Parts: sequence; C-alpha cells; structure tokens
Amino acid sequence: MENLSFAMNGGEGPRSYALNSSFQRSAFEAQKRLIDEAISENLDPTMTFTSSSSKDLITIADLGCSTGPNTFIAMHSITEAIKNHYRRHKLLPAHQTLEFQVFFNDQVSNDFNTLFKNLPPNRSYFACGVPGSFRGRLFPNQSLHFVHSASTLHWLSRVPKDIVDRSSSAWNKGRIHHTDAPKEVGEAYEAQFKEDLENFLNARAEEVVGNGLMALQIPAAPDVVADDNKEIDPGRVFELLGSSLIDMARVGIMTEEKVDSFNLPIFYSPVKGVKAILEENKYFSVEKMEPLNLETFYAAPNVYTFVSLYRVVMEDLIKQHFGGAIVDELFDRFTQKVVEFPDIMNLRKLKIVMLFVLLKRKL
Ligand SMILES: C[S@@+](CC[C@H](N)C(=O)[O-])C[C@H]1O[C@@H](n2cnc3c(N)ncnc32)[C@H](O)[C@@H]1O
Repeated sequence: MENLSFAMNGGEGPRSYALNSSFQRSAFEAQKRLIDEAISENLDPTMTFTSSSSKDLITIADLGCSTGPNTFIAMHSITEAIKNHYRRHKLLPAHQTLEFQVFFNDQVSNDFNTLFKNLPPNRSYFACGVPGSFRGRLFPNQSLHFVHSASTLHWLSRVPKDIVDRSSSAWNKGRIHHTDAPKEVGEAYEAQFKEDLENFLNARAEEVVGNGLMALQIPAAPDVVADDNKEIDPGRVFELLGSSLIDMARVGIMTEEKVDSFNLPIFYSPVKGVKAILEENKYFSVEKMEPLNLETFYAAPNVYTFVSLYRVVMEDLIKQHFGGAIVDELFDRFTQKVVEFPDIMNLRKLKIVMLFVLLKRKL
C-alpha cells in the first residue's frame, strides 16, 4: 500500500496551521528545559562528519516541521543552547565560529512557501527545505548532529490494511479509529505504529553521526486510562468526529461504505509500547524519557478554538477521502458534539501523554 501524503492546512489565514498550533507550541515550551539539559549534558563536541573534518559546522534537522512558526522557535532555541554549551566549555578556538545548517523537513504536500516566507530574517543558521517522508532516508550517511521531531510520530504512514478489509476480523466497521473497537483493530494500529517507528529509527541510524542526538516529542496514551468520568481516553475526540460522519451517512450526505472505508492514520501508543520499541532498537541508546507537564500546556479557551486545533490537522485527509464539500458541515456537527461533551477539552481529563525522549546514536 502507498504511503499516505497529507499536510496541515497551509497559508496564514484563520484556518491555517500557522495560526492554530498553540497547543503544539506549548508542548515545545514545556520541553525547552529538557532540550537545554540534553545539550549541556550530552552534546559531544568531538562529533565529526566522516566525509569532512569540519568541526565548526553543526547540522540540525526538524522532521515534520509543518509551516511554522513553532519550528522557528524550536530551531532558535536549539541553536542557542548549542552556542551556550560551546561558549561555556570554551570548545571552540578563538578564531573559529560555529555555523549551523538547519534542514526543515515535511511531506511533499506541506506548504513550504509559507515556511520559507516566514523564515526569521535574523536567524543564525543556513536554512534548507527537505521534502519527503521521514519514514525513509532523507539525508546522506552520517550527516546529522541533532534531530528534532515534535508531535509527528503518532501519524502513521498508512491506515493498517486489515481494518478496511471486510473479510478481516480487524475490519473497523462504523468507526474511524480504534477507540471502543474490537481488540483486533487496536492491534492492527499498534503493529503499524511499531513498523513505522522502527523504520524512522533505522533511517535515522544511517544519517546521524556517532554520539549524535535525537530529541523527540511523541504524543502517547497512558498505559491504563481509568474507566470513569475523571479520565478520558485521547481517542474519544476521534470518536466524536467519527460519530459526526456516521450521522451524516444516516441522513444520506454520504454512503455508509464511504465512512467505513475512512480511518484516521493516528495512534497514541501506550507509553510502555513506545518504551519497548525504543529499547529494542540497537542503534540508539535511550538517554531520557519523561512525560511533559500537561498543566503548563495551552488549553483552548472555547469550543471553536478547540475544534480549529483539530480541523487544521485533519482537513486535508478528510478532503482527500470525502471531497471538500462536506468539510464545513462535518466540523459544525463535530462542534455540536464537543459542546455536548465539554469535558473533552479539559487537559486534566483528556489523558494525552506528551513524551519527551532523548536518544543518542551509539558509536
Ligand atoms: C502536528 S504537526 C507538527 C508540526 C511541528 N513539528 C510543530 O510542533 O508544530 C505534524 C507534522 O508532521 C508531518 N508528518 C507526518 N508524517 C510525516 C512523515 N512521514 N514525513 C514527514 N513529515 C510528516 C505532518 O505533515 C505535519 O506537518
């Protein structure tokens, strides 16, 4: 099956990712201290390229950068932390200055024009766009010192094929996600997540220099979500969206088959699943893995802002499957469901776990 290619909403209008990604930005703010620590405790100044002896060039990649501005905030803060580290430890001879090359990567359909247009004019790095899926190779052998990727790895490369196969026990009829589905559906999602994360790690293993660092922020789920009204599984949001689609099929706006053949390629893995995959990988050591403090996260002030956070990331996928004509009505219906179930907007109850992970490429 083909890898999916989709994008966050481009441009800078009211329905753009650029204007509706405060939640992801607050996740970066929450992990900033950990990135600073990761650099000061783990960055090895003797890392060199195999192909060059240039020690004063540091290469950084932001994988799944979208259109900005979050990626600019992240790249500024990573380059500043590296400069401080070099300064503090007097790692550079007086006549040399550090140079940074930043690679901004995302899917080919990402709005790179908006990204390029908004590159900070006084940035202290050379910028380069790298289109393509990070599930495969994107860079030459041993050419990266630092990789960052935030809020990206829960996106699957494809919908698990069994869940759209009517003859399979994992056929996901009447839902668009695995929440409340038979266990075979969840297992199919889990298997796809494992394959995707392994492909990601194996591709990076080729590209990252020995001792190079990888800081990942992975949206995940708790190992157990209490079945009471104090905790809400993060997949419930997709269930509300799915039931909006089913309601539309019932009144004849689209067929039931069309809804049955649509599934979201998103998986919030239980934390222990992420840990097992990372620890199994033989190329990287896990230096740190800890959940970020959700209390410090951006909470949508009202239902419309909350719905927009989801709309800007899912609209392209929905249009690809159902066409653009249904999108406004779908999100109106979804909004109504969120109004009826406002607890879903409460981050103390909606149990997303934002995992910060620091990996080091083994020598
Ligand atoms: C929620 S956005 C996060 C953007 C940015 N990192 C941030 O924190 O604001 C997820 C991004 O991951 C990208 N993405 C998902 N799968 C990808 C893949 N296989 N290769 C490259 N980018 C991918 C999407 O296109 C999207 O721009």
